[in-house]
Amino acid sequence: MAKKAYIHTFGCQMNVHDSEKMAGILLREGYTFTDIPQKADLIVFNTCSIRQKAEQKFKSELGRTKSLKRKNPFLKIAVAGCIAQQEGREIFKKNPQVDYVLGPQNIHKIGSMIRTNEVMVSIEDNPEIGHIDLPVLRKDGIRAWVSIMYGCDNFCSYCVVPYTRGREKSRPSKNIYNEIFKLALCGFKEVALLGQNVNSYRSDIDFESLLKRINTIEGIERIRFVTSHPRDLSEGLMSCIKELPKVCEHIHLPLQSGSNRVLKLMNRGYTYTDYMKKVERLRKEVPDIAMTTDIIAGFPSETDKDHISTIKALRAIEFDGIFAFKFSPRPGTKAEEMGEQISDDIKSQRLAEILDIQDEITLRKNKTIEGKVQEVLVEGESKTDKGKMTGRTRTNKIINFCGDNSLTGQLVNVEIVKAMRHSLEGKLVI
Ligand code: 5AD
Ligand code: SF4
Repeated sequence: MAKKAYIHTFGCQMNVHDSEKMAGILLREGYTFTDIPQKADLIVFNTCSIRQKAEQKFKSELGRTKSLKRKNPFLKIAVAGCIAQQEGREIFKKNPQVDYVLGPQNIHKIGSMIRTNEVMVSIEDNPEIGHIDLPVLRKDGIRAWVSIMYGCDNFCSYCVVPYTRGREKSRPSKNIYNEIFKLALCGFKEVALLGQNVNSYRSDIDFESLLKRINTIEGIERIRFVTSHPRDLSEGLMSCIKELPKVCEHIHLPLQSGSNRVLKLMNRGYTYTDYMKKVERLRKEVPDIAMTTDIIAGFPSETDKDHISTIKALRAIEFDGIFAFKFSPRPGTKAEEMGEQISDDIKSQRLAEILDIQDEITLRKNKTIEGKVQEVLVEGESKTDKGKMTGRTRTNKIINFCGDNSLTGQLVNVEIVKAMRHSLEGKLVI
């Protein structure tokens, strides 16, 4: 009987996609998959260390596998991802039940690791990562994530990513093109180009040229990309969003803080004014563009005044949505060592205020498209709104509407009947 693998993914989209790659390799190794850890012959944790919370969640899950291993000594346990990279062999000290440790630059080794019966660790730097094409087992058949670059060179002072995922490495454009060409043949309609800092993509061609090439692939109807760094948002990229028909009108552009003093301490490489100028220019080029962002509340030494600057920025820019987090000191980063760490109470207060204000803005923004007709890529039946179909607008807003399952994978026009904070309700226009 085929062996079964259980994969538990923590953290960002990059990890979700890395898990799809590990699943692809395991499938090739003859594994099938289960959602029940008790039934698995192999448990893979793909871990995240961006904030302490994600790390704690994983550690308690990992603790629970001790008893599973006692019951089934043949069970193999792999720890992959960012915590694997940071802790390496240390993981074995508290968790001797673990068999394999593999960092994000070495996930391709999972196949050869499980074939051995030896405990193995692989956390070395992998300069070849951009050139390794892996099989990918995708759950979705309509939208696909495609890695275009790995790692990050920015060293924002709060962030572990440059330490866990290593230096920036871009994939050759030919490999990306071929992957997307095949996805189109398999019926995929949308690709999301993935990287820590996609707009600093540079291999044989630059990011704008890459978008232009992908735009020519027949069958692909929509192109998205995450995440963009404000410093690298060029006018050329703005023109691509405006002019290339398949590139969607949405950008995720992390601001982090509205205070210049804090932005400098964060080593973000732009001021609030720089950011604002780019937003204005972008909105002039692409008036209906949706913008989302990331905000960190309670960075070390953040004063009430700094916090108010962030609130003012949110009110001035009016993002369509935000992801906001309490600052979390991460091992090995500069911000961990900084004086004047903010108390958890104040962080929570500031975060709550940020989220409240943004809720109001998001709802107000969504209301402005009530009554309008928008193009929607239908993803399938809605899980939250039973009996309805679900999809996304080009601006990446979720919309539920009455329709037939046969619409899945098609582009349809939907009138926005009611706007809520996290989704829209629509009516199919025939
Ligand atoms: N604490 C809180 N938030 C963080 N992020 C990254 N590192 C930290 C940290 N130490 C947030 C940033 C980034 C998003 C992916 O996670 O806002 O854009
Ligand atoms: Fe982290 Fe900054 Fe790189 Fe984003 S750009 S991954 S926040 S170091």
